[in-house]
Amino acid sequence: MTQDLNFLTHKHNKMISIKELKVKDIDLCYEFDSNTISLWSKKQWADEFKKEGTKIVGLFFTNLVIGICVFQLVLDEAQINYFVVNKKFRKKGFGSLLMSYLIKKCEKLNLNKLLLEVSLSNVTAERFYTRFDFSTVGTRKNYYKDGSHALLKEKKLTTK
Ligand SMILES: CC(C)(COP(=O)(O)OP(=O)(O)OC[C@H]1O[C@@H](n2cnc3c(N)ncnc32)[C@H](O)[C@@H]1OP(=O)(O)O)[C@@H](O)C(=O)NCCC(=O)NCCS
Repeated sequence: MTQDLNFLTHKHNKMISIKELKVKDIDLCYEFDSNTISLWSKKQWADEFKKEGTKIVGLFFTNLVIGICVFQLVLDEAQINYFVVNKKFRKKGFGSLLMSYLIKKCEKLNLNKLLLEVSLSNVTAERFYTRFDFSTVGTRKNYYKDGSHALLKEKKLTTK
């Protein structure tokens, strides 16, 4: 991954940007999701934009959205509800860029913890989160529609 990150930071950093997405970007979010993990309907995306404390950020390669993260601020914690990189752009360090951005942003907001749920069978995400020092703090039985279980993970943040 180090090589990929060098590739990103030295050659392409001007092409990469992270922006907060707004209600006007619903179609972009829905289209991105439909092309990746198909988690939410357009109505569900609209509901996410309305949720108190919810922020949605997009990672762009030039003007193409290649990653989206949805997180919700609750007191001194942030819950990650969506974290996806477009399949064609995976394993190139983009997920790490987005996660590093999120961690820094939450630390600036003086938050203490980042939380998320991940499927027990999602080995890729499990490795990804372990790399960012998320630890498993619980399980959610039958969490997903298909009856599969989720791991509850948390990362302690270094607040200033
Ligand atoms: C999880 C996800 C966001 C990672 O994004 P990414 O851009 O591929 O991540 P990176 O390239 O920054 O990878 C960082 C590290 O994560 C781990 N990782 C990423 N993809 C992996 C894979 N296919 N197999 C094993 N480890 C993997 C590795 O440790 C990797 O470091 P390395 O390249 O040095 O081995 C991406 O795979 C994804 O969108 N998956 C589908 C959605 C999902 O499952 N989201 C999480 C749900 S909670």
